[in-house]
Amino acid sequence: MLKLASLSLSSPVVLSPMAGISSYPYRKINRKMGFELAYSEMISARALSYLNKRTMELLKSSDDDRPLGIQLLGKDNRYILKALEKLKEYKFDTLDLNAACPQKKITNNGKGARLLKDPKKLNSLLRCMIKNTSKPVTLKMRLGWDSSKDAVRIALGAQDAGASAIYIHGRTRMQGYNRAVDYRSIAKVKKTLKIPVIACGDILSARLAKKMFDETGVDAVAVARGALGNPWIFKEIHELIENNRFISRPGINEVKSLMKEHLGLCVKFYGEKAGVVKFRKFYIWYTRGFINVRALRTKIAQVTKISQMHSLIKASVPI
Ligand SMILES: Cc1cc2nc3c(=O)[nH]c(=O)nc-3n(C[C@H](O)[C@H](O)[C@H](O)COP(=O)(O)O)c2cc1C
Repeated sequence: MLKLASLSLSSPVVLSPMAGISSYPYRKINRKMGFELAYSEMISARALSYLNKRTMELLKSSDDDRPLGIQLLGKDNRYILKALEKLKEYKFDTLDLNAACPQKKITNNGKGARLLKDPKKLNSLLRCMIKNTSKPVTLKMRLGWDSSKDAVRIALGAQDAGASAIYIHGRTRMQGYNRAVDYRSIAKVKKTLKIPVIACGDILSARLAKKMFDETGVDAVAVARGALGNPWIFKEIHELIENNRFISRPGINEVKSLMKEHLGLCVKFYGEKAGVVKFRKFYIWYTRGFINVRALRTKIAQVTKISQMHSLIKASVPI
C-alpha cells in the first residue's frame, strides 16, 4: 500500500502529469486500466490566482476522476496562497509542487526544476502549501540541477518541511531526457527518506517498471510517456509485479474500441472540432507501428469531424 499521509492507495502505480495531455478525458481513459492516483498537468499558481480561463479548464474534473492530484507550478508564496484559496472550490485529494520541469521558459522564470538550485525557497513554498491545505503535499523533483546531483539533500529538506512523499525523476535538469535513468541515485534517496518515494523516468513497459522497483526499492512508480497510446501499460505493470506474469497486448478490436471511446470523451469535453483536433496526437500514438499509418497520418491534419476520425480509425491496419 502507498500512503500519502491520510491518502491510502492500494496501487503502487501512478499516472504522472503531462502538460497538454493530462486533462480529464486522458485521465478517464487511463483509469479504466486499474491504477488509482492520477494528476492534473502542472497549473501555474499565478494564472490560477487570476482565474485565467485556460487554467480553469485544466481543473475540470468529475467524481469519477478520483483520487486526483493537482500539481502547482510557482515560485512565490503569495500566488501559492491565492491559488490554494481558489482550489477550495474544487474536489481533489493531494497537491504536488513542481520542481522538475526542465523547460527553459519555466526555469528562466525561477520555476520548475530551477527551484532545485534554491532549496530554501523550495522548502518555503512547500511549507506554505502544507500549512494552508488539509491535503497531503508532495514534491516532484529531478536528481538535481546538474551533475552535482544533490537529490538526497533536497529530498531530506522536503521531508523536514513536511512533504508526504517525493516524486523523483531519475535524471538531472541538465540531462533533460537524453541520459539513461540513474537508478542508483534514486535508490540512495529511497534509502535515506522515511516518507514514500515515487520514481519516474522511462517506465515505458512493465519490464522497466519492475526494474525500477527492483533496483531502487521505491514505494511506487509514475508512468508518463509509456501510457501514450498504451493505457494497457497499467494492467501490464500490475500483472507483472503482482503475479509475475506478462500479459499479451490487446487485439486490434480492443485498441480501436478504446480509441473510439477516448475520441468520444474528447468530443464531449471540448466540443466536436476541438475534441477531434485534440485527439489527433493520440491517434498517432495509438497507431504507432501500424502498417498503413503513414498514409493515414498525412490525412490527419485535415480531420475535424468525429465521423472522419472514425473512418481513419476503421482504416488503420495493425502489423
Ligand atoms: C509532454 C510532457 C509533458 C510533461 N508535463 C509535466 C507536467 O506538467 N508536470 C510534471 O511534473 N511533469 C511533466 N512531465 C514529466 C513526466 O511527468 C515524467 O516525470 C517524465 O516524462 C519522466 O517519465 P517518463 O520517462 O516515463 O516519460 C511531462 C513530460 C512530457 C513528455
